[in-house]
Amino acid sequence: MHIAVCPGSFDPITFGHLDVVRRALTMFDEVVVAVATNDAKAPLLPAQVRVELARQVVADLPRVRVGLVPGLLADYLQEQGACAVVKGIRGASDVDAEVPMALMNRHLSGVETVFVAGDQSLAHIASSMVKDIARHGGRIDDLVPGPVVAAVHAALAGRKGGR
Ligand code: PNS
Repeated sequence: MHIAVCPGSFDPITFGHLDVVRRALTMFDEVVVAVATNDAKAPLLPAQVRVELARQVVADLPRVRVGLVPGLLADYLQEQGACAVVKGIRGASDVDAEVPMALMNRHLSGVETVFVAGDQSLAHIASSMVKDIARHGGRIDDLVPGPVVAAVHAALAGRKGGR
């Protein structure tokens, strides 16, 4: 059984993330979408909401489950018995950001990271931009699944201009 972990902040999960999860499924027996904390970012959505949204939007995908990373990703990989991390790459800046994390996760856990080039038509989608567009009244329904649209709007309404 080859288990891959797709980690991320998923604040919120987007069609780009789902594309990467689908591609990971072509290579591994099981894929765990792992919602983790990125200390460099202040999330809009609480972790439990990000987990719940991810669960809703992967419900139709076989062999996929969703988990919450309580601490270090490296520890979670070992706990899950994962043989790989799968990350989507949209361009050079993603490589610059991801390679140091891949090296550190391998140092800590021995688990390799597999980089996947996502669908070119989704390469412009980033969670940060989704939130920014929604904050300024723009449409996000072609960037994220329906339940996520509602959750982002609800969180922004509750926060009034927060990030
Ligand atoms: O979607 P993101 O924000 O690019 O994902 C980054 C994330 C959350 C996967 C990364 O920050 C992470 O692994 N956080 C968990 C804590 C951890 O293990 N930090 C060391 C990473 S080398």
